[in-house]
Amino acid sequence: MNKRNILVTNALPYANGPIHLGHLLGYIQADIWVRFQRMQGNNCAYVCADDAHGTGIMLSAEKAGVSPEDFIDAVNLEHQRDFTDFLVDFDIYHSTHSEENKTFSSLIYERCKANGHINQRSITQLYDPEKGLFLSDRFIKGQCPKCKAEDQYGDNCEVCSSTYNATDLINPRSTISGATPIEKESTHFFFSLPDFSDFLKQWTRSGTLPNQVANKLAEWLDGGLQEWDISRDAPYFGFEIPGEPGKYFYVWLDAPIGYMASFKKLCESRTDLSFEDYWDADSKNELWHFIGKDIINFHALFWPAMLKTSGFRTPTGISVNGFLTVNGQKMSKSRGTFIMAETYKQFLNPEYLRYYFAGKLGSNPDDLDLNLEDFVQRVNSDVVGKVVNIASRCAGFINKGFAGKLSAEISEPELIRECQQAASEIAELYEKREFAKAIRLIMSLADKANQYIAEKTPWVIAKENPQSTEVQDICSTGLNLFRLLVIYLKPVLPGLAKQVEEFLNVAALQWQDVESLLSDHQINPFKPLMTRVESSKVDAMVEASKDSLNTENSSAENTTTKVDSPLANDPISEEIEFPDFAKVDLRIAKIIRAEQVEGADKLLKITLDLGLNAAGEQQIRTVFSGIKSAYEPEQLKGMYTVLVANLKPRKMKFGLSEGMILAAGEGKDIYLLEPHAGAQAGLRIT
Ligand code: 2FM
Ligand code: ZN
Repeated sequence: MNKRNILVTNALPYANGPIHLGHLLGYIQADIWVRFQRMQGNNCAYVCADDAHGTGIMLSAEKAGVSPEDFIDAVNLEHQRDFTDFLVDFDIYHSTHSEENKTFSSLIYERCKANGHINQRSITQLYDPEKGLFLSDRFIKGQCPKCKAEDQYGDNCEVCSSTYNATDLINPRSTISGATPIEKESTHFFFSLPDFSDFLKQWTRSGTLPNQVANKLAEWLDGGLQEWDISRDAPYFGFEIPGEPGKYFYVWLDAPIGYMASFKKLCESRTDLSFEDYWDADSKNELWHFIGKDIINFHALFWPAMLKTSGFRTPTGISVNGFLTVNGQKMSKSRGTFIMAETYKQFLNPEYLRYYFAGKLGSNPDDLDLNLEDFVQRVNSDVVGKVVNIASRCAGFINKGFAGKLSAEISEPELIRECQQAASEIAELYEKREFAKAIRLIMSLADKANQYIAEKTPWVIAKENPQSTEVQDICSTGLNLFRLLVIYLKPVLPGLAKQVEEFLNVAALQWQDVESLLSDHQINPFKPLMTRVESSKVDAMVEASKDSLNTENSSAENTTTKVDSPLANDPISEEIEFPDFAKVDLRIAKIIRAEQVEGADKLLKITLDLGLNAAGEQQIRTVFSGIKSAYEPEQLKGMYTVLVANLKPRKMKFGLSEGMILAAGEGKDIYLLEPHAGAQAGLRIT
């Protein structure tokens, strides 16, 4: 069979915050597909990068007191670390803030322009006169013009769900400086998407997209396309538009071009890859984009249109994943289910998550729920109980009774054959990205293998005679079945597969290895493979992710997660009984010191005086609190506030936090609770 040449890309995460489990869904999905292709012997290049431009990143860098370049470099390293930890095996992890991307962005723009698809006109937008910045909707808040709810963003109301223009908000304010925005005109550049309406109607129906997605796009296409604003005014962190000083490419213009740029960079270090072979208009190689369902329009409308007119090939396929929910709800910081990759890694093996996601992923962009109880149960019963268990049951007998030698003849040929013959069906399911179906099939084979061993009871025979050839045959068959299952699971569990290759004393397993068996073969001593998921670790991970005020590492921008909004109009929580409330020991505390925390974006270290205890000793507490965006340390010194005094101390990245001080709001609008003048430190709130 001819080898396929495939280029796979994953959506580029913003260089503005850490990777969390919602992001990982899409990366793990693509990585499984890439690993499967490579095991098939296909050439599969896999590229990604940080999406490094835009106002958000510019402001984050400013807040952190560093240049945008330094800021995105630091985030890039963190992202790479997280992807490596979760075994996402990119060939290159680049950045959209690169020379290659600048060159391609300019080239594509120039070609769009030369072909008459760029228009310019003046538009009026809201402008922050204090900050000297045009404001996109997410940087404007005010009262909803319809239901009058306070604190709503510039495009839609989270309370009544109405959509509107930022200029319709009542009492609008810039979330950056708090200033009242003014209306200001400026020239913008537009990509004329309607010119591509016929092309896109045909392209979106040509098998490149899941049907569900193509149907959704058809609605937009039938409703008529609009021009796309591709420029932003200075100050902006991005690429200046050639010949248009002070005008920058909108981050979404150069983001997908980052796929090309990353591949170009990869080609520099790889003699087996040529850029043109993959990107020329007549390329026969495949180009696959893996994205989340919230960014379909960018990838299935603007992107193919720009590629088409600038003389490049269009994608072969776009794989779209849904949102991640945890325990049936949006990921939430207060519930501890907004889990960062780094936090997960501290408590649990990343391969558990890979398996769980694979077990629920299909080719449609359906939302996927990570139910934490089901997660523990599935991983333990499938991977540990059904797969690893075969090896741990059989290996000891072979190592002890037969010096690690598998028998020359393999018994139970029918079962072995059945397992081997499943290879094509499993491969087809992987190919179609029907991973859940593939996993179900693999586990049904694992059930049969376990049944075989349970029926043969080698441990009973070995008790009589540990050197019985029957024991050797049964266990050799068992280990061969195990090897086949591991081949099938290798795209999902590459770390486990590597340990198994070492144990079985074989070269890196490929898909075609299912055709052969291990007989008369020396294996190595068995070391425990994947261990059971402990529920206590899951609980500890959730606890460590709980962050009601200490919102270090929070990120508003994410591609694949529904996030709880911490807006003022949050619905009132579930009713509780008085005894529950009475458990909380709230005390007046005096802030005696407040300090910056090195390396923390949002935290201040606060030292509090709680007055004297019964023994007459001074009680001092230290807490880390996410109020840095709203307070300077000097302001806080001497203030009185309210401390949750009996909260279990929590180990944070920067030290132990001994309680929590109370505050409301978010961003620059955080308000620390202060008692009426005269309240003494240590007084209990009753
Ligand atoms: O939505 C996002 O998170 C974007 N950073 C994805 C960009 S994908 C590609 F176009 F670069
Ligand atoms: Zn409203």
